[in-house]
Amino acid sequence: LGVITLDSGFTNTGSTTSAITYIDGDAGILRYRGYPIEQLAEKSTFAEVSYLLINGELPTADQLNTFTSRIKRHTMLHEDLKRFFDGFPRDAHPMPVLSSAVSALSTFYQDSLDPFNQEQVELSTVRLLAKLPTVAAYAYKKSVGQPYLYPDNSLGLVENFLRMSFGFPAEPYEVNPVLAKALDQLLILHADHEQNCSTSTVRLVGSSHANLFASVSAGINSLFGPLHGGANQAVLEMLEKIDREGLDIKEFVTRVKNREPGVRLMGFGHRVYKNYDPRAALVKKTADQVLTELGVNDRLLDLAKQLEEIALSDDYFIERKLYPNVDFYTGLIYKAMGFPTRMFTVLFALGRLPGWIAQWREMIQDPSTKIGRPRQVYTGYTERDYVDLSAR
Ligand code: CMC
Repeated sequence: LGVITLDSGFTNTGSTTSAITYIDGDAGILRYRGYPIEQLAEKSTFAEVSYLLINGELPTADQLNTFTSRIKRHTMLHEDLKRFFDGFPRDAHPMPVLSSAVSALSTFYQDSLDPFNQEQVELSTVRLLAKLPTVAAYAYKKSVGQPYLYPDNSLGLVENFLRMSFGFPAEPYEVNPVLAKALDQLLILHADHEQNCSTSTVRLVGSSHANLFASVSAGINSLFGPLHGGANQAVLEMLEKIDREGLDIKEFVTRVKNREPGVRLMGFGHRVYKNYDPRAALVKKTADQVLTELGVNDRLLDLAKQLEEIALSDDYFIERKLYPNVDFYTGLIYKAMGFPTRMFTVLFALGRLPGWIAQWREMIQDPSTKIGRPRQVYTGYTERDYVDLSAR
C-alpha cells in the first residue's frame, strides 16, 4: 500500500485504458474510434455513431437497419413507468426525473440486469437507447402539463423524439428537417468524451458490477452539475442575466477575472482542451445556420459572440488557455428549437448515452478491471477516547 499520491480532481491520473475516444487537448482533436469528429458530424448520423461507439466499427447498411429496427421495437415505456411522471412536482427539474426513471428500469427489466450475460447486455443497451428519448420527452411534457404521446416508430429516432416533445395527440406533427438534422448533429457531438466526470462515474459504479441501468442513472446525476453538462443551462442563464440587467460585457468579464463569488464565464474552459474545443467550433456554425433558417434574431447570440471576442483577446483567458467549450453555443440552438432552458442538459444526456454504454461495456468486458476504489490522505484526528454524553 506504500505512499499514496494525491491527485485531487484526477488531473493527471489515468483510470483506465480505452480504445473508444481519442482527444488531443493541445491540438483540439477529437476522434471516435479513430474517425475525426468533423467528418462524423458532417457525414454520419447519431444512430450510426451510437453503433460505432458501442461496437467499434461503422455498421454496414444491414447492420444499421437491424440496429435501428431493434431500437424502434423498444421505444414505448411500460404503462406503470409512465405513472412515475405523475408523482413528480410539475416544476421538477427534468434531470433528476430522467435519472430516477432510468434507475427504475432496473425494476421493470429484471431479465436484462446481468452484466456478464452478453445477450442481456445487448437487451439493456437497446432498451436504454430506445427508452431514454421517450423518458426525456415525457419529462418535458410533464413540465408543461401536456399529454404524453406514444412513440411513432415510422419516424426516424430524432424525428420521433421531436414529435413526442412538441406534438399533440390529435394533430399531425410536421418535423422540420433542418431542426432534426441539427439535433442529430448535436447528439453526435456529445456522444462520447473519454473519461469525463459522468463517464468516470458510470465506469466506477459499474466496476462494482452494478447493472447498466444503475450505472447510467448515476452518470445522469453526475452530468446534472453546472461544471459538467449543466453548463449549457448555466450559459443561457448567464446570457439572459447580462441581457435582462443590461450589464456591460466588458464589466462582466472584469468581474469574472476578479473572481467575484459565483461569477465564472460559463461555457468557457476545459480540463483537457487547451485550444479551441473542436465541438464548439462546429456548434457555433450550426447555431448560425439554425437561427438563420428559423428566422430567429436572438440578441443572446450577438451577446455570446461579443463575450467570446472579448474573452479571447484578454490576457486572463489567453494565459489560462480558456476557450469556448461545447456548451457555449448549444443552448442558443436548443432555445431556438423551442426547448426550455431546463431541458438543455437532458439533451446532453441523450447524446452522451451511447458513450456511457460503450465505456461501461468496455469496462465490464476487460478482465483486468478491478473495482474502483481510490485511496485518500487522512487529515483528521489521531486516536482519541470516547467521552460520555453527560460529560460533553
Ligand atoms: N471562467 C473564469 N475562469 C476560469 C474558467 C471560467 N469558465 N474556467 C477556468 N478558469 C480559471 C480558473 O479560475 C483557474 O485560474 P487560476 O489558475 O488562476 O486559479 C484556471 O482557469 C484553471 O481552471 P480550473 O478550474 O483549475 O480548471 P479545471 O480543469 O479544474 O476545470 C472546468 C475545468 C470546465 C470545470 C472549468 O473551466 C469551468 O468551471 N468552466 C465553466 C463551466 C463549464 O463551462 N463547464 C463545461 C465543460 S465542457 C462540457 C462538459 O464537460 O460538460
